[in-house]
Amino acid sequence: MAKSENCQKTTQEQKHNTSVFIAQEEIAEKVQTLGKQISQDYQNSDYIKIIVLLKGSFIFAADLLRCIEVPVRVDFMQVSSYGNQKTSSGNVRLLKDLSQDIDGEDVLIVEDIVDSGTTLSHIVEILKTRSPKSLQIVSLLVKQEKFSLGYPLLYQGFSIDDEFVIGYGLDFAEDFRQLPYIGIIHNKEIPDL
Ligand code: IMP
Ligand code: MG
Repeated sequence: MAKSENCQKTTQEQKHNTSVFIAQEEIAEKVQTLGKQISQDYQNSDYIKIIVLLKGSFIFAADLLRCIEVPVRVDFMQVSSYGNQKTSSGNVRLLKDLSQDIDGEDVLIVEDIVDSGTTLSHIVEILKTRSPKSLQIVSLLVKQEKFSLGYPLLYQGFSIDDEFVIGYGLDFAEDFRQLPYIGIIHNKEIPDL
């Protein structure tokens, strides 16, 4: 059973004093809306090649896929630009490449959050060289005031302020991915036990 916001807080949530920023129900509604929009736009496509950007997007992608009514195929890619820091280094390293070609396919990149846009810009550059038939991006969250991306970000979920968020796949130093909501950490220091 899915852990709800009413469940007792995990020790991590207690230690860092987290609070709900976007509730589980709100996320589910937004994911459905995005799924409908994508299904309509791709109704004439044989299938959508979904590229899930690991790790942060895995929960969003899993939910989104199940709201898409046209055939999809899935592949995974992982880049790192943050390490355990909370500011973008501008250094993007390819940790895991796709397992198959995307030549002639309708490709949709699934991203959790666009902050500066550095990560996504690099990925778009890499994928454009591989001759997809089309290339679009869906991001659940966008830090609107900050990002610059030389490419259209066609499908956007929530536009948020420049706030560090966690949960629903998003981490803070690898923790908190399992939270069913998107939250904020009020205490970023880990207190001594
Ligand atoms: P960008 O390259 O600055 O756009 O950063 C994008 C990546 O950094 C995202 O795909 C996330 O993995 C991570 N990131 C950016 N902002 C946050 C945040 O608020 N919480 C958790 N991860 C974040
Ligand atoms: Mg990401």
